[in-house]
Amino acid sequence: AKILLLHGPNLNLLGSREPHIYGAATLAEINEAAGHQCDNAGHELETMQSNSESALIEKIHLAATGGVDFIVINPAAFTHTSVALRDALAAVSIPFIELHLSNPHARETFRHHSYLSDLARGVVCGFGPHSYTLALQAAIHQLDLAPH
Ligand code: DQA
Repeated sequence: AKILLLHGPNLNLLGSREPHIYGAATLAEINEAAGHQCDNAGHELETMQSNSESALIEKIHLAATGGVDFIVINPAAFTHTSVALRDALAAVSIPFIELHLSNPHARETFRHHSYLSDLARGVVCGFGPHSYTLALQAAIHQLDLAPH
């Protein structure tokens, strides 16, 4: 099956961005590990990062016609702001997992609300770069339960 891994704004800066919160791994390293993980499970992975809400929304629209079976997304700050991203995910009705490196619930109150969580199959947060591994493991498991 085909998995789309989406990264929201400022995640291109991983590695140098507040490493005490987000860890030392770069986005390239995270994507490489994610690719291996999906390969080993016999699934195809596509990754995309954007700082632009519209680019992420358009990628989600394309996923519907592009045969994407599952989306794993770190919406970053758009988690807490974007009704439009929520509507895009609802519109394509591709199952998705929301993930975060940090645990937003242990941070500022404006990070406690997500516009996506109630639509997600599940949410993984708080494990640094390992959140990606756990979220992809869950996505692969979901796909194996209901193969496409
Ligand atoms: C984040 C958490 C968000 O609150 C924040 O805006 C981010 C990253 C995380 O992965 O921990 O940019 O999604």
